[in-house]
Amino acid sequence: MRRVNLDIDGKKYDLVVDNRESLWETMNFQLGLQNSNLGCDRAQCGACAVLVDGKAVNGCTVLSARMGRGQKITTVASLPKGPGLAGLHPVQRAFWLDGGFQCGICTRGFIMSTVALLAANPKPTTAQIQEGLAGNICRCGEYAKIYTAVNTAAAEMRGEKVTHLASAIVVNATGSEAAPTASGVSKEFTFTNPLDTIESFDPLAEQLKKKDGILGVSGSERNITIKWDPAKLDETKVRTILSDLGKPVR
Ligand code: FES
Ligand code: FES
Repeated sequence: MRRVNLDIDGKKYDLVVDNRESLWETMNFQLGLQNSNLGCDRAQCGACAVLVDGKAVNGCTVLSARMGRGQKITTVASLPKGPGLAGLHPVQRAFWLDGGFQCGICTRGFIMSTVALLAANPKPTTAQIQEGLAGNICRCGEYAKIYTAVNTAAAEMRGEKVTHLASAIVVNATGSEAAPTASGVSKEFTFTNPLDTIESFDPLAEQLKKKDGILGVSGSERNITIKWDPAKLDETKVRTILSDLGKPVR
């Protein structure tokens, strides 16, 4: 047994832990905190990820007995800065509005790993996002929307205006052609032929962003959400641009 002083989300906890006890066990069973999920309990899925001094670690595997030396432990509970959607951390907001989840078991872990990734790399490529989140597994397979959410959160944290997929989804559900927003018109398209891999998306997005009137691009190997300036483009012209780049959409 060992006496430790844990600093979790800015609050100090003085307690005695078993030397074999994981941080997740201490937080849940001793402290009654429910700030991270348990998936595999063997360092394979990342569902339990929290930050220790800004680095993502698996709470199921880190020993609490080694955490009482002034390390700052951060969980998803300390990310929101206020009530409602506006109060969420940009990463939380992006996961919510871009639909980067299904059952949600993996989500807290993905969010914490994303917070760590974006602190180290504010503008990651898709390959760097995949690498940065390689320790997190989503059994529901929501990777495409998770990567979109990471890109959107990164853009918001860089001070850019962003359009979340939720607006495009609502638009599709109501059958309208496109979603006018304060800063442009946004619509999600499905590639006629999916890209070979997700890695092919970034080069395409870079080409599109150079086109006059294109305000924003996000998506995956299957879908692409484009925001454009209605004074310069309309949906037909956007479709033509995509066709001219060899990536027609439905
Ligand atoms: S629950 Fe910790 S890595 Fe899966
Ligand atoms: S949303 Fe279900 S495991 Fe990721």
